[in-house]
Amino acid sequence: MMEVYLLEWANLLLRWVHVITAIAWVGSSFYFVFLDNNLLRPTSPDLLEKGVDGAMWAVHGGGFYNPQKYMIAPKVIHSKLHWFYWESYSTWLSGFALFTVLYLYNASTYLIDKSLMNWSPGAAVGVALSFLVVFWMIYDAVCQLFGFRKNGELIVGVLMLAVITFASWLACHWFAGRAAFLLVGAMVATAMSANVFFWIIPGQRKVVAAMTSDKPYDTKAMAIHGKRGKQRSVHNTYFTLPVIFAMLSNHYSFIYTHPQNWVILVLMMFAGAAIRQYFVMRHGYKHGRSGNPWPYAAVGVAVIVGVIVWLGPRSSAAIAPTAPTAPSTTVAADTVPTAVAKIIDQRCLMCHGAQVQMKNVRLDTAENIQKNKAMVYQQVVVTQQMPMNNSTGITPEERQIIADWAKP
Ligand code: HEC
Repeated sequence: MMEVYLLEWANLLLRWVHVITAIAWVGSSFYFVFLDNNLLRPTSPDLLEKGVDGAMWAVHGGGFYNPQKYMIAPKVIHSKLHWFYWESYSTWLSGFALFTVLYLYNASTYLIDKSLMNWSPGAAVGVALSFLVVFWMIYDAVCQLFGFRKNGELIVGVLMLAVITFASWLACHWFAGRAAFLLVGAMVATAMSANVFFWIIPGQRKVVAAMTSDKPYDTKAMAIHGKRGKQRSVHNTYFTLPVIFAMLSNHYSFIYTHPQNWVILVLMMFAGAAIRQYFVMRHGYKHGRSGNPWPYAAVGVAVIVGVIVWLGPRSSAAIAPTAPTAPSTTVAADTVPTAVAKIIDQRCLMCHGAQVQMKNVRLDTAENIQKNKAMVYQQVVVTQQMPMNNSTGITPEERQIIADWAKP
C-alpha cells in the first residue's frame, strides 16, 4: 500500500516537472524559430563587417531587444555564452522517468493488453524501449541519406510520415491503447532530444572550439554544423505539436480504445504538424509578404473535423454508450468470495460482461475475475476510476470488501 502511495506521488511530481521543462523547451524552441524567420539582413557596413547575417528588433517587458545572428560564427564572443540544452535534456529525463514509473514498472497493468499480445512484462518493456531506439536510428539515417538532397525536406517528411504511421499501427496492435499512444509520442520526442544531444550541441561545440582556438579554421567544413543544426531544429519544431497531442490524448479513453486508434493518432499528429507549418510561416516576415499561409491551418483543421465526424456516436462502434442491461451471467462464486462476486455482478457487469467488454475486461466468471484481480484492485481501490464515473453507485464499504479480497 505504501509503495503504491509513493508511486502515485512520484507520478504526480514527475509529471509536474515534465510539463514545466517541456514548456521551457518548447517555448524557447518556438521563440528561436520565430526569431530565425524574422531576421533581416543588415545593411549597415559595421554590422556586415562584424559578420552579422540577420537581426531584428522586438519590444517585450518594458525594454527593447535587438538579437543578431552570426553565420557561421562571430569573430569573438565577449561575454558568457548561453547554451540551450538543459531544457531538452530535462524534458527527456523527466519524461522517461514518468514513463518508467507508470508504464514500465506497472507493465502488466498499463503496458500490456493481454487480448492483443500476451507477453511477459520483461518482453513488453524491452520491445517498448526498442521503439525509442529504432525510430531514432531510422530517422537519423533518413536525414543523413536524403536531408541535403534536392527536395530533401519533402522526402524526409514523407518518409517520416510513413514510418510514424507504421509505428503507430504496430504499437496499437502490440500494447494497450493508452500505452501505445504514449509510446509513439515518446518515440518521436526521443528523436527530438537526440537531435539536440547527438547533432546540434556537438556541432556547436566544434564551431566554438574552432573559433576560440588561435589557428585559422576551414569555414566550409564548419558550415555543415550550422546547416545540420538548423535542419534538426526545424524538424523538432514540426514534431512538437504531434508529440504533445500523443502525450495528452492518452488521457482520453474514447480515442485510444477505438478499434482504429492508430489511424486517429496518425491523423491528429498530421493535423498538428500542418498547423505548426502555418504558424512557422505566419511568424516570418518573408512569408508575410507572399500572403497568408492559411491553407496549412485549413488542412489541419479539416483533418480534425473529419476525425470528430468519423468518431461521432452514429458511426462509432468503439464505446457507443450502451443502455444498462441486466447482467447476463451471474458470477460463479466458487473461487471468488460471494460478497465480492455480488458486488462485481451489480457494479461492473453491465460494462464488463458477456455482451459489453470495456477495454476487453470481462468479469463474468470466477475465472475471469481471478485473472483480472490485480487490475480490479488498481482500478477500484487505488485509483478508484472504476466503476466508470461510479455510474453504478458502488459504496465505500463495497470498495473495502474488494480491497480486503484483492490486496496484493
Ligand atoms: C459504465 C461502464 C463501466 C462500469 C460500470 C465499470 N467499468 Fe471498468 N471500464 C469501463 C471503461 C470505459 C473502461 C476503459 C477505460 C479506460 O481505458 O480508460 C474500463 C476499464 C476497466 C479496467 C481496465 C483498466 C485499464 O486501464 O486497463 C478494469 C480493470 C475495470 N474497468 C474494472 C472494473 C470494475 C472492477 C468495475 C466494477 C467495480 C468496473 N470496471 C465498472 C467502463 C466501466
